[in-house]
Amino acid sequence: MYARWRPAAAGRVTISRRARMSETDRRTEMPENTLTITDNRTGKTITVPISERSSGGDETIRAPELRQLRVNEDDFGIMTYDPGFMDTAMCRSTITFIDGDRGILEYRGYPIGQLCEQSTFLEVGYLLIHGELPTRGAYEQWVSEIKANVMVHESIRKIVDAQPLNAHPMTILIGAISALSTFYPEAHNIHDAESRMLQTKRLIGKVPTIAAWAYRHALGLPFVQPDDDLTYAGNFLSMMYKGTEQKYVPDPVLERALDVLFILHADHEQNASANAVRAVASTEVDPYSAVAAGVAALYGPLHGGANEAVLRMLREIGSVKRVPEFLKAVESGERPLMGFGHRVYKNYDPRARKIKQTAYEVFEVTGVNPLLEIALELERIALSDDYFIKRKLYPNVDFYSGLIYEALKLPPEMFTALFALARTTGWCAQWMEGAADPEQKLARPRQIYAGHRQREFVPMGQREHAGVVARV
Ligand code: CMC
Repeated sequence: MYARWRPAAAGRVTISRRARMSETDRRTEMPENTLTITDNRTGKTITVPISERSSGGDETIRAPELRQLRVNEDDFGIMTYDPGFMDTAMCRSTITFIDGDRGILEYRGYPIGQLCEQSTFLEVGYLLIHGELPTRGAYEQWVSEIKANVMVHESIRKIVDAQPLNAHPMTILIGAISALSTFYPEAHNIHDAESRMLQTKRLIGKVPTIAAWAYRHALGLPFVQPDDDLTYAGNFLSMMYKGTEQKYVPDPVLERALDVLFILHADHEQNASANAVRAVASTEVDPYSAVAAGVAALYGPLHGGANEAVLRMLREIGSVKRVPEFLKAVESGERPLMGFGHRVYKNYDPRARKIKQTAYEVFEVTGVNPLLEIALELERIALSDDYFIKRKLYPNVDFYSGLIYEALKLPPEMFTALFALARTTGWCAQWMEGAADPEQKLARPRQIYAGHRQREFVPMGQREHAGVVARV
């Protein structure tokens, strides 16, 4: 007999893991690495393979195996119900590894701390896209190819220019990036590896140009063309801040800080926006449309929009004195502490640690942001407070990044646009991996249909009488 984790009951499926069996059972019965499931409605037992073990040690069964569990021939079989994909792997990936319990983040196996210390954003971009760190020659070629793609068609400039002055930069990005697909119709050929690489270089090159223009547009300033002599981050600063000077010279500390922020935001495995990119791309649409969907997902305040929300929150708190009162409101469920908590990290987000350190470096140049004091006090109290400890809520990437962006004199609306331009590299890596994966399928989840069935149509004149009028 297999051990059951709770007594069998009607309408229940019990699952036992091979690892829990006695040594004798293990030797004489089922093969290793299987899961035995008993359907207590029918008494049927199935044994399914634990088909895969991730590099991080997570083990997986294939959900369709559960379809074998049916009460009769017409039955579809058991489905899993998993809102928000809490326990569902939707792809196999070799790009980014996260251990949320231990606060570990690696790109292609390289710890994020090492990449921030020793690498540049474009080198990390190469790593994410190609899977390996570049040789010097490969790096130089990659940088020159990205630089060759920073110019944006004049018609895209007109699209940016046609937006209202108060348009959010993220909505400008969504529109302009999807419009790129009409300029590069060959991008629809997603089965051609060479074309995929070309579209990727275009996206990595052009998104910063569009983001910087979205910033200048809001200020009514003329757009600045990319400067080939500058680094990726330096050129972005130039496109945002260049005035009447002949040549914009970025402050090296700020340029490096921005590069580090870009590295930290470059990818984060299957988050909401990567999932949006993969789901949309699974229809085999072009990458510009898929990345535009990623930008839309990132725009939301529970995802990339949180850094903007953090700044508003810090401003609203206004002083260190008011922090305890604010945290009381959080604990009583009146509002969230923005920039805290994460679906995957149940420990300090390693990105937040690095961003906090970078913030101090930036403040050396720009002067301290007065909101820092409030943020530090929020963190100090929250990390020793039962509410946060019990729920394993720690600062996430968005808690301190807004303070740096503000020190760079960026308006809060631009914060998520900076996240988007860095994440474009990760979205492209996710898209390319999916497009080359023979197991990728059209993303099409199932549902638990909980509505009416087979009702008789009621003519309009009789509905009130029949009590079928919708209450809104
Ligand atoms: N403030 C107060 N309570 C919180 C918070 C928070 N920021 N986050 C989670 N909780 C509580 C939540 O109310 C729940 O409590 P209870 O068990 O009493 O119902 C418990 O913690 C578990 O929360 P959850 O909503 O089940 O967790 P989740 O994994 O669905 O949510 C999250 C993750 C990021 C949506 C959430 O933590 C949140 O809304 N944080 C604030 C927004 C934010 O900072 N987002 C940026 C995420 S990192 C950037 C990125 O990668 O996109």
